Amino acid sequence: MSEPVLKVDNLRKEFGGLIAVKDVSFEVGKGEFVGLIGPNGCGKSTTFNCISGLLQQTSGKVEVFGKDASNMQPDEIQNLGFTRTFQHTRLWREMTVIENLMVPPRQQFSPNFLQAVFQPFSRPAETQRLQKAYEILDQLEVPHMAHNMASELSGGQSKLVDIGRSMMGDPELLLLDEPVAGVAGPLAMKIFNNLRRIVDETGISVLIIEHNMDFILRQGVDRIVVMNEGEILMVGTPDEVRSNRAVIEAYLGAAGEEEGGEEE
Ligand SMILES: Nc1ncnc2c1ncn2[C@@H]1O[C@H](COP(=O)(O)OP(=O)(O)O)[C@@H](O)[C@H]1O
Ligand SMILES: [Mg+2]
Repeated sequence: MSEPVLKVDNLRKEFGGLIAVKDVSFEVGKGEFVGLIGPNGCGKSTTFNCISGLLQQTSGKVEVFGKDASNMQPDEIQNLGFTRTFQHTRLWREMTVIENLMVPPRQQFSPNFLQAVFQPFSRPAETQRLQKAYEILDQLEVPHMAHNMASELSGGQSKLVDIGRSMMGDPELLLLDEPVAGVAGPLAMKIFNNLRRIVDETGISVLIIEHNMDFILRQGVDRIVVMNEGEILMVGTPDEVRSNRAVIEAYLGAAGEEEGGEEE
């Protein structure tokens, strides 16, 4: 694997008596597209929350770009070149898509963010930012949505805009929490295809949470980290995961049955 941009080492998170994440270790290399997969409640979002500094881990270590981020605040980790999205997308409903891209993500709110948002777009920095927002919509193949109100978007379109928003800070490492949950099949595949292309074209690294094993096996990720009940079941390429007996027993039957049951 290429040099790791993210190194999770024996990460553990307890909530009272509940061990949500149990000594989890894995790495994401530079320019890698990695899936983090497991059923609901297995500890995926908690792992993200510890990595991004929103939760203090009980024990273990997180390294981002070779720096010990175990005790950093979210904005410090962000400044290293890291961005994440949340499982429940919250856009500014009364703003257009392009305006939503101009607002920094929640984690990036700085004291002067209101000033940054409401300054006239004619200022050079703002004009540059606006141009970038359009470029990102192009990359995600939704330039036509720029002036739609966020409140008019479908669940899947909202997720796409949320990904676009997370790309505004030029992250080197992007963590996406179930960006296609509840998104209809064709749009979900398009989101993955676009992410694959962005990873290949820009060399950024993406770690993406998904709960449907059967789906992620077909989406062209480089490696998959499989979690189960707070633990790592295995880490491997889609082919390795597909043929792993423990994974087949724990997941593949159930994941197949889930298919087609997702709402838009
Ligand atoms: N803030 C919290 N306080 C207490 N328990 C939590 C908290 N966050 C998550 N949990 C519990 O930790 C476990 C893992 O949750 P989570 O990481 O959200 O799973 P996943 O994202 O894989 O669906 C679940 O049992 C959940 O109820
Ligand atoms: Mg989750």
